[in-house]
Amino acid sequence: MENSDAEVIAKITGLRKERNAVILVHNYQLGEVQDIADFVGDSLELSQKAAKTDADVIVFCGVQFMAETASIICPDKTVLLPDMHAGCPLADMITVPRLREKKREHPKATVVCYINSSAAVKAESDICCTSANAVRLVEKLTNASEILFVPDQYLGNYVATKTGKKMILWPGFCPTHIRIQPQDISRQKAEHPQAKALVHPECRPEVIALADEVLSTGGMCRFARENEAKEIIVGTEIGLIHRLRKENPGKRFIPASEQAVCPRMKLITLETILWSLENMTNQVKVPERIRLKAKAAVDKMLEGG
Ligand code: 13P
Repeated sequence: MENSDAEVIAKITGLRKERNAVILVHNYQLGEVQDIADFVGDSLELSQKAAKTDADVIVFCGVQFMAETASIICPDKTVLLPDMHAGCPLADMITVPRLREKKREHPKATVVCYINSSAAVKAESDICCTSANAVRLVEKLTNASEILFVPDQYLGNYVATKTGKKMILWPGFCPTHIRIQPQDISRQKAEHPQAKALVHPECRPEVIALADEVLSTGGMCRFARENEAKEIIVGTEIGLIHRLRKENPGKRFIPASEQAVCPRMKLITLETILWSLENMTNQVKVPERIRLKAKAAVDKMLEGG
């Protein structure tokens, strides 16, 4: 480790105590950021942690919608996003006016929004989900005559296939996950015939069709721990590889594609964490009018587990 990193970490350690801060880190974050976390997890696990923490400050190392979700759940806490440019291009593929227009076309539809959406879009939705619980939550919507799923068409399509429900899909997608091509999985499988291929449900259906398991990033971590496979092809953003290797030193993890990098996730660094903690800058606060409506959708997600 470079000396400067050690100094930055020492300052963060002092400040996190002084401010009673918890550092929540998504699985796609840089390795050095994961290494200073109080908790590393997927979107659902991080929301659950935010709901339970007794810290005064949440330093959210992830992208904007994740910090917003923490603010929706914990309005009395200070939520810091160390770099405000850490947005999610998928979340930006839907706006409230366009969603309202679609709702007018389908007035009876139950609106299910993926957590990768703005607080304002959540406020327009009936229920929120993550990749870890989308199938489970949609399965429970037995009275819904129509389901409008926003904004990720590929997760929506996967959920529709698993539940057999007819769903109206918003045409959004994750620019990082669509970089993973079916031929990447086929090539890696040919080179590593013993390996299990895990892919994220944000991948295209042709990629999902070639996978052994379709899992959230947290689900991939559990699979790696519990399954006897010694070689695993990882079809998601490559930041997850750091955690998988750290937790499973005897196993081999092969990125499905080195191209699967989310540049926004990598904006959070040790330095930006230190600056935001030092100055208490980059606070994310969802306006109360939006928060209350968004919370109803997020609460249903948390209750559904
Ligand atoms: P997970 O909830 O599986 O960690 O996914 C988060 C995400 O943003 C995927 O692109």
